[in-house]
This record gives sequence, C-alpha cells and structure tokens, in this order.
Amino acid sequence: MGRKSSKAKEKKQKRLEERAAMDAVCAKVEAANKLEDPLEAFPVFKKYDRNGLNVSIECRRASGLDRATVDWAFELTKTNMQALYEQSEWGWKDREKREELTDDRAWYLLARDGSSEPVAFSHFRFDVECGDEVLYCYEVQLESKVRRKGLGKFLIQILQLVANSTQMKKVMLTVFKHNHGAYQFFRDALQFDVDDSSPSASGCCGDDCSYEILSRRTKFGESQQGHGGGHCGGCCH
Ligand SMILES: CC(C)(COP(=O)(O)OP(=O)(O)OC[C@H]1O[C@@H](n2cnc3c(N)ncnc32)[C@H](O)[C@@H]1OP(=O)(O)O)[C@@H](O)C(=O)NCCC(=O)NCCS
Repeated sequence: MGRKSSKAKEKKQKRLEERAAMDAVCAKVEAANKLEDPLEAFPVFKKYDRNGLNVSIECRRASGLDRATVDWAFELTKTNMQALYEQSEWGWKDREKREELTDDRAWYLLARDGSSEPVAFSHFRFDVECGDEVLYCYEVQLESKVRRKGLGKFLIQILQLVANSTQMKKVMLTVFKHNHGAYQFFRDALQFDVDDSSPSASGCCGDDCSYEILSRRTKFGESQQGHGGGHCGGCCH
C-alpha cells in the first residue's frame, strides 16, 4: 500500500515536472514569436557585400510582406522546387504551398538587391518539435543568378544566430535526398546532421522516404547531444 502510494506520488511529480518543462519550451517559442525584428541586435548581418553581390537583408513576418513579394516568393519556390516535389511522395500543390508561405507563424529573411528587387529568401518558424524549441527552416530559395556566391550559407548562418539568440535548441529543416545540390550544401558545407526524428534515423520508412530531416544544434541544444528521443513524428504518414 505504502509503496503504491509513493509510486503514485513519483508519477504525479514526474507529470508535473514534464508539464513545467513543456510550459518553459512553449514560453521560449512564444517569446521568440513576439519579437519585432529578430535581427535588430545584429546590424552587420543586414547586408551581404561579397563575391559581386550587394544585398540588404531584412527579417519580418509573413503578415508584413506585400502581395508582390509573396507572389515572387511563391513563384521562385515553384520554379526551384516543383519538379523535385513531383519526384517525391508529396507531389506539388500550388494552394498548399501558398498557404504554407502565408501562414501566420511564418517568418522571412528577405534579401534584396540594389534596386530593392528580392533575390533570395528563407521562410522559417519558431516551433516545438519532439518537445524541443526549434527554429524550423521551411525554405531557403535563391534566384539562380545569385547562387554559389555564399549568400545561401550566409542566410543559414543568420538562422543559426537567430536560433541562438532566441534560445532555440536547434535549426531544423527537411531536404529531399534527390535535391543533390541542396543536400551537399547542408550536409557537407554547413555540417548539418541527420536529425533523430528523420525517417532514416528512426527506422520508420527508412530508404523508402525521399526526404531527410537535418538539424544543427545551438549552444542551448548542445547538452542534449546523444539524448535523442528516438522516433517522433518525422515519419511521412
Ligand atoms: C541550395 C542553395 C540554397 C545554396 O545556396 P548558395 O548561395 O547557392 O550556396 P553557397 O554559395 O552559400 O554555397 C556554400 C557551399 O555549399 C556547397 N554547395 C552549394 N550549392 C551546391 C550545389 N548545387 N552542389 C554542390 N554543392 C553545393 C558548396 O560547398 C558551396 O561552397 P563553394 O561554392 O565554395 O563550393 C541554393 O542553391 C538554392 O536556392 N537552390 C534552389 C532551391 C533549393 O534547392 N533550396 C533548398 C531546399 S531544401
């Protein structure tokens, strides 16, 4: 009897601790989403002037983008990605991609050239994945004329910086295995790891899945190295 009740107490205590931990995770995501401009403290990252490019970079919510910029982001994503989506189990759907790009939770890094024309963007969100606060990169899309000049790497470095400054545990993203250039970019050049929640790591779907979930920890996620919780929602169904 005595043992049972102490077990029940332990269970209750554990539940309370888990709830408190989840509340703390959600509070971090909420605080990040309340920022006016996550790049405000890092003015040197608001321009990229290298390798023949001279672009300004701003950070804003989807709701702060004008219609023309949203249309440009959609068309660029479609041009770059439609064929790759169609080679996957997901297929391409205009309406779904538009909804995703304009979701209330969407944040943007937007790079504009000297004539204020947009040339590249990253759509990202502060979110909870498998119980961790993370910055999830939904898109990084460059016009072909500005590629291989270090701008993509710079944008991802900004995401890493923003993730650190908002105390997220990692930067995460999904990449198609058959998007060879992007795969090399993230895995080799930027040293992203295959995330524990990726189908290939969790044992779910394994080689049948056409995508991989990659991640790079911030200093707030480093202590969790090797404590992966195994499979958690990274599956394609
Ligand atoms: C993938 C992408 C974001 C990379 O941005 P980028 O500015 O062209 O890349 P960077 O110049 O920063 O490249 C840094 C390094 O990554 C690697 N890399 C980048 N693109 C690569 C490619 N196509 N093939 C092989 N390696 C590549 C290289 O090591 C490169 O260094 P190097 O140019 O000195 O060899 C860009 O090519 C793009 O927008 N592609 C189309 C959309 C897309 O696939 N997005 C990713 C969706 S998950």
